[in-house]
Amino acid sequence: MSGQEEAYTQPMGLDVGTSRIVAARTVGKKYEYQAQLNAFLTLPFSRLAESLLQREGVFYQVRGDELVVAGDDAEKFAEVFHVETRRPMKDGVLNPQEPHALEVVRRVVGKLLGKAAAEGQKVFFSVPAPTAGSEGGIRYHQESVRTILTELGFQAQPIEEGLAVVFGELGPSNFSGIGISCGSGLCNVCLAVLSVPVISFSVPKAGDFIDSQAALVTGDRATRMRVQKEQTFRLNGMSGDRVHNALTVYYDQVIENLVKTLRESISSAQKLPKLNQSIPLVLAGGSVMPKGFFEHFMTALEANELPVKLSEVRVASDPLHSTARGALMAALC
Ligand SMILES: Nc1ncnc2c1ncn2[C@@H]1O[C@H](COP(=O)(O)OP(=O)(O)O)[C@@H](O)[C@H]1O
Ligand SMILES: [Mg+2]
Repeated sequence: MSGQEEAYTQPMGLDVGTSRIVAARTVGKKYEYQAQLNAFLTLPFSRLAESLLQREGVFYQVRGDELVVAGDDAEKFAEVFHVETRRPMKDGVLNPQEPHALEVVRRVVGKLLGKAAAEGQKVFFSVPAPTAGSEGGIRYHQESVRTILTELGFQAQPIEEGLAVVFGELGPSNFSGIGISCGSGLCNVCLAVLSVPVISFSVPKAGDFIDSQAALVTGDRATRMRVQKEQTFRLNGMSGDRVHNALTVYYDQVIENLVKTLRESISSAQKLPKLNQSIPLVLAGGSVMPKGFFEHFMTALEANELPVKLSEVRVASDPLHSTARGALMAALC
């Protein structure tokens, strides 16, 4: 930080996602976001490779006999060195198969937040909700991230991702309604009443599932499926294109699975408060971005009527930042 820049001592929001980590802070009355890919690559250590990384100002670290490049730089240099990027997280939590997982998340979080500028500076960070009641390593993940933040000097508090979406998007309905975040590993859902979570869960079919299934049936690489999905794909029915059709089929499966699980979860909830009014439902996360997602979601809703009345269904105006903004808003409360 330069000498003239004033230290930011206000609360912060952090979205610890499987594919991206996003930090949110307030600047005047606005919110500002910074994001880094939650990814890394490793190269065998050599003086030449290290001096190249240094010359390019790359975010790297030496770990034993390897060079570890983390964050956005990983994707940039994957092409240069012809290696695949890896992810420290899988299905919403630290990946137990990745020995570098914790260190990479620590580096990326450190790069985004820096050290706390004031003692006890607050940060709320997103965590996934259980899938089908199974804890699935969430607690270990949560406490690991909390430790990273505590070591940076923050007072850290977890918030379930679906609830963060409610905070970020449903202020106008007094934080009552359904917040959904469809990311890469999971779709996270929370039904909240007056900011109190009543039902939260996650489903393990989301963007990565679409990529890997489409790759399986087209014989292509999942990374190529993802690029096509993000750049040109729209949900507008089947066509003559194999990849388009594969993406469509598995996108529809993700949507149907999400809506069915939502209906079942609300139907079987034992302590659902009496909702006199209808409530809004908002969709966020990178996987809701293709054109036609909303229409396909509505079709699935019509086929699986929810046991609560919905006043509106909408896609968040800035789906990639909803969770981080919501975590920030919760931290500001
Ligand atoms: N424009 C887009 N169209 C379709 N999918 C997208 C787009 N942008 C991102 N995605 C997908 O969204 C997922 C990442 O969403 P994000 O909310 O950033 O995830 P996470 O919380 O898992 O880090 C990935 O599966 C990615 O391929
Ligand atoms: Mg997310």
